[in-house]
Amino acid sequence: MSSNSRPRKWWRLLVVLVAGVTLLVLMIGAGVTWVYVEASVSTVGSTRFVNELAIPPLAPSRMEPDGTRTFELDMHAGRKEFLLGQDTPTWGFNGDYLGPTLRARRGEKVAVAVRNDLSEASTVHWHGMHLPAAMDGGPHHMVQPGTTWTPSWTVDQPAATLWYHPHPHGTTETHVRRGLAGMFLLDDDVSASLALPDTYGVDDLPVIVQDVKFDGAALNSSHAIFRDVGFLGDRTMVNGTLTPYHQINDELVRLRLLNASTARTYTFGFSDTRPFSLVATDGGLVEHPIALDRLRLSPGERAEIVVRVRPGERIVLRSNELDAGLGFWTQRFSGGDDTFDVLELRAADTLRPSPDLAATLASPAAPDGTDSVRERRFEANLAGINGAPMAMDRIDFTVTRGTAETWVVHNNDGMPHNFHVHDVQFMVLTVDGGAPPDALTGPKDTVFLPPDGTVRMAMRFDGPADPNWPYMYHCHLLWHEDQGMMGQFVVVEQGATAGTPPTHHGH
Ligand code: C2O
Ligand code: CU
Ligand code: CU
Repeated sequence: MSSNSRPRKWWRLLVVLVAGVTLLVLMIGAGVTWVYVEASVSTVGSTRFVNELAIPPLAPSRMEPDGTRTFELDMHAGRKEFLLGQDTPTWGFNGDYLGPTLRARRGEKVAVAVRNDLSEASTVHWHGMHLPAAMDGGPHHMVQPGTTWTPSWTVDQPAATLWYHPHPHGTTETHVRRGLAGMFLLDDDVSASLALPDTYGVDDLPVIVQDVKFDGAALNSSHAIFRDVGFLGDRTMVNGTLTPYHQINDELVRLRLLNASTARTYTFGFSDTRPFSLVATDGGLVEHPIALDRLRLSPGERAEIVVRVRPGERIVLRSNELDAGLGFWTQRFSGGDDTFDVLELRAADTLRPSPDLAATLASPAAPDGTDSVRERRFEANLAGINGAPMAMDRIDFTVTRGTAETWVVHNNDGMPHNFHVHDVQFMVLTVDGGAPPDALTGPKDTVFLPPDGTVRMAMRFDGPADPNWPYMYHCHLLWHEDQGMMGQFVVVEQGATAGTPPTHHGH
């Protein structure tokens, strides 16, 4: 009898143990499956476009006696009714959410009086602008509450769709997501001579795309489980308008697309997959209009596209699944399976005729790499770029004014990133060793990097030298930037060395 009791006890214990572990595994499996299924969102087909698209106003400016065009931007907290009857706390420039469109012409001297009426310090950076480092508005240019910072510079680059947004180190994602962003349009003789659609708000539309999520009236800011890219919303808005439509009265319409989302990459196209023409990338016009039916834009990137509409029709600007070879887990949790109906264009029954697009738009502006004086390599992952997270008091390298360089950026992480460089526009030379896709052949300042992707790019640093004020390079998934996926360089005269970055704790 007693000789049998021990094996029986063991047997029972084993059954209980196996049953328990099996149950646990099943529960975890069910939980993960549920999280996986819940992680994908879509507004395609279910969107009723009931709100007229808001067009950010063109910012007024005054001419100073010395010919400087001066704008004013006031950062403050506000409230906006995104959802019927719901008052959402927001931040904005001049208005309650986003900011006015600044517009200037090549050759003009501009100044912007940036006043901070928020309860905390912030900065304003001019994304894509070629300007002295002391005016760049990076993390060293903190504007304390109640104070005004007035950078000025001369516009010296081709016509382009640029933008502005805060850049305080560690809180950029929060400040942008609350609503601090706006467009900065540049014009020049080339853009003025082309018969592109150019009536602002009529056949030339700013399209600032952001993803949002509402908790009742409040803007949600949480990073859901497994979301390594940062905040992802469950719906989109354009220029701060949910479910937007816009009435079109011309045969051709130009959309200035800006991905002002903090983490989401969009793959734009139209509901009927009609082709459109890409006429400009981040830094301005491409050489020839490029026919596409899909266009990927990661956070911070811009593109100007021209699309032809037929009388009386309605078409929807849509964002499709990300097609970047991501593994199925990463694809799902970085938002790659999500799809959105972004903006409805409603063509009038009679349309004003638009002239055809010119076959040649601009001559290439960025260097092609043949005169690069050196090559730099960047290994990028969430832990930092080239092995170290951003340090405010560390200049990572020094560039000689007037020279061109080739930069090779490799994403050695399991998640998507992108790469943005301040002050310059670059030419993409290769992607993973091959010729870049057509959509990346124009001037760029931000480029998408899928896991293990490598982008080779050439750029010239011809701005003024300043050994003390650095420019930034970073991942433009803003939470990644906040985490330290950023570095700094200074531009110096031949043979000079880097100085010390200014202290940023007030001035
Ligand atoms: Cu739009 Cu340094 O960023
Ligand atoms: Cu920038
Ligand atoms: Cu990143």
